[in-house]
Amino acid sequence: MDAPVIGFSKLSKKEKVNWLVDTYFNSDAAAQNLITRYWNEDAKLQELHDGFSENTITNYYLPFGLAPNFLIDDHLVTIPMAIEESSVVAAASKAAKFWLTRGGFKTSIKSTIKSGQVHIMYHGASSEMEAFYAFAKAYLLQSIESINASMKKRGGGLLDIELVNKTSALDGYYQLHATFETKDAMGANFINTTLEQLASSLREKASQFDGFSSDAPEVIMSILSNYVPQCLVNVSVSCKIDEIGTINGVSGANFARKFTRAVDIATVEPYRAVTHNKGIMNGIDAVVIATGNDFRAVEAGVHAYAARDGQYRSLTRARVENDIFTFEADFPLALGTVGGLTSLHPLSKLAMQILGNPSAQDLMKVTAVAGLAQNFAALHSLVTTGIQAGHMKMHLVNMLEQIGANDTEKAQLKKAFTDKTPSFSGLREALELMRDK
Ligand code: MEV
Repeated sequence: MDAPVIGFSKLSKKEKVNWLVDTYFNSDAAAQNLITRYWNEDAKLQELHDGFSENTITNYYLPFGLAPNFLIDDHLVTIPMAIEESSVVAAASKAAKFWLTRGGFKTSIKSTIKSGQVHIMYHGASSEMEAFYAFAKAYLLQSIESINASMKKRGGGLLDIELVNKTSALDGYYQLHATFETKDAMGANFINTTLEQLASSLREKASQFDGFSSDAPEVIMSILSNYVPQCLVNVSVSCKIDEIGTINGVSGANFARKFTRAVDIATVEPYRAVTHNKGIMNGIDAVVIATGNDFRAVEAGVHAYAARDGQYRSLTRARVENDIFTFEADFPLALGTVGGLTSLHPLSKLAMQILGNPSAQDLMKVTAVAGLAQNFAALHSLVTTGIQAGHMKMHLVNMLEQIGANDTEKAQLKKAFTDKTPSFSGLREALELMRDK
């Protein structure tokens, strides 16, 4: 085993790169060049990016694309998307175009409440914990007043705290469950600071309370929850069956029937539901990343919501009633448009500008639309032609790159494969033939 590297974080960026290249690449100049080729010439911009994280050695690009023509609540919106997967932006654009002439996307915010918990253990009688909470509550609330002040000014802040008895799930386990409104901020720092203050005030009050028959309550941890079932946006599309038209040779009525069946399958079958929801997240994550929000938080929250009744299910719903096709979803999305990376990353700022500097609620709506659109596009293909034809065509560019075709060869191969589904072996064969000639 190699010796561990000591003090790595203290090395300069160049020293870090040298260490890496010496340790993992046999001092190969090619590795060194690859890393430095991705440095930005603008030193200030590079410094900004280096500062986002730790031990940074270079940049890792993601394509930043646009899906135009989204009619959302009667306004035209161009959605910025940062994603590496081919076909996603094209699929979003296709769904936008489809719904543009069929009434567009309708959205509404159902609620914007976030929560966090102080997790506590107490092994005495529950009645003692309740008596302690009654004794401490006013002080707890008062102790976070100064932290709360600026958020309160913006119309948000701590909404409520509640003692929750969780002892039936885990011996001795209680929570201080706190709810928050964080307006345009994602609010992680505000929530965590508030929770840690509540925890510290709780410890202080516990030392003054003489009603415990057992050791005083112990705070295990204080942290926001990324489960946000009360921070919900509804998004829907709807049109008459007649308006659907023929899709890839399938009649509107048949399309709607198969489409709703596909959603029903994802509602009852977890194997399908995971892939179905993954497709939704293609759209949601791309907007979340483009706007500098935390996609891991959104992913965790969305999937937990998909399993809220104990089984993992489709996030979307579809129905045909009175000859009207409706497709909709409620997505739990805790997003911010101020603070954090949203106001630091120049491209996130650009994404926000493209969206008209939205409020957090407006960003929830746009993100939800991207998710529903993506699912619509995926099912649109799946229940008609299948996804491979379109997908592989979009993937062709990557495939041509991978088989080492030059620009002229790429152009010729693209032409040759216009009507065929490309495979690596087929492309290689065609390339060899071309080169033999
Ligand atoms: C691929 O990234 C996403 C899909 O698999 C989604 C789906 O199957 O619904 C096409």
